Amino acid sequence: MRHQVCTVRELELFQKVPVQINGKAVVVVRSEDGGVYALRDVCPHKGPCLSDGMMDKGCTSNEVGEYIFEKEKEVLRCPWHSWEFDIRTGKSLFAPEKVKVKTYEVSVENDQVFVNM
Ligand code: FES
Repeated sequence: MRHQVCTVRELELFQKVPVQINGKAVVVVRSEDGGVYALRDVCPHKGPCLSDGMMDKGCTSNEVGEYIFEKEKEVLRCPWHSWEFDIRTGKSLFAPEKVKVKTYEVSVENDQVFVNM
């Protein structure tokens, strides 16, 4: 079922918007390229709202002191222990096949953002 959750303008201003849908906490986020994504707003580690964390670029490294920013990978970082989740897939950066948050399908029509769940 489709739920209207916010406007694109709200996402442009705040980058992430926490919402409740059928009693579930969901965070809607906007990537730098304008894509809109929705994830469960609960960190699978200890449970805080991911919407209280920071959005950032995905970053890898081959050696100490090296930072390779991955433009196509943006993350939502947990506010408690900094686990990072890819906003497009919900997968954690450190154990993508084991640790992830649920994602939801999003659609945008006439400046309105809808989450399907
Ligand atoms: S509670 Fe989110 S990383 Fe620990």
